[in-house]
Amino acid sequence: MRPKVTALDDAARALAEARRVVVFSGAGVSAESGIDTFRTEGGFWQRYPPEEFGTPMGLAKLYATDPARLARFLEELVGPIAAAAPNPGHLALAELERAVAARGGALSLITQNVDELHQAAGSGRVHEIHGSLFDIVDAEGRKLRRIERPELARIADALARAQRGPFKRARIARAVLPLLGLPRAGDLSRPRHRPSVVMFGEALAEPAWQRAQAEAARADAMLVVGTSGLVYPAATIPEIAAQAGARIVEVGPERAFDGLWLPGQAGLVLPELVSRVL
Ligand code: OAD
Repeated sequence: MRPKVTALDDAARALAEARRVVVFSGAGVSAESGIDTFRTEGGFWQRYPPEEFGTPMGLAKLYATDPARLARFLEELVGPIAAAAPNPGHLALAELERAVAARGGALSLITQNVDELHQAAGSGRVHEIHGSLFDIVDAEGRKLRRIERPELARIADALARAQRGPFKRARIARAVLPLLGLPRAGDLSRPRHRPSVVMFGEALAEPAWQRAQAEAARADAMLVVGTSGLVYPAATIPEIAAQAGARIVEVGPERAFDGLWLPGQAGLVLPELVSRVL
């Protein structure tokens, strides 16, 4: 699937003419970095239903009833992110930010992803509205420390090893400790520490969410990349921008919003699009 040249040119013009460009990204932008999307066929939430795996209470239940399955879930979540590097789509967005700044405009990026690949690619103004896997916070949400990719990789390895052999529960609890600080009773629903990732039913990350809404309302153009647009309130971001009169350009194999759609993979389409804006 490739976008038509005329559509690419129209989208490039919309971005070139905008003083304020806002990017809104989702899991699809990281798919080509080896990180699973959530809702596509065979995606993460199909293998690990969010009712069970998407809330602190669900994780607490699994810890009590099926720790090996919990460990498998965490390993599959953490392992690919630990091993991932930015793909040409992330790199093109960072290049676009520099190009917009060079001509006196501003580009900021609102992401639903927790993988920090935009920052690794060089994007400077990133609002992580669903938090980050790399920031460990206490039960009140105060930041305690950073965790880096090599440590995440070690955690994923430890989780894999803990699923084999005896004393699974104790070994899984130990493997998970750098990520989740379990209270004595083993109640994961109120871990002493955890990544700042937003789970179902929780408020979005602040101040990122307030800033994201304000920037969407001021955008002249919004570039939407790799999101199903099904998760609220995040999915209101393109709606806010459209209502404020921004041109909407969307990149991805499926279309979620009204506007100009460039079908295809982010890693192929974004470099082509950005080369036309430069
Ligand atoms: P989804 O899995 O819902 O949607 C991913 C989108 O990316 C789909 O529309 C795919 O068609 C598209 N896609 C797949 N491969 C792509 C590629 N190579 N290039 C471009 N697009 C591609 O993921 P999100 O919309 O990000 O929340 O999901 C939103 C939230 O739901 C996530 O932030 C997560 C999840 O529950 C939290 O973790 C809090």
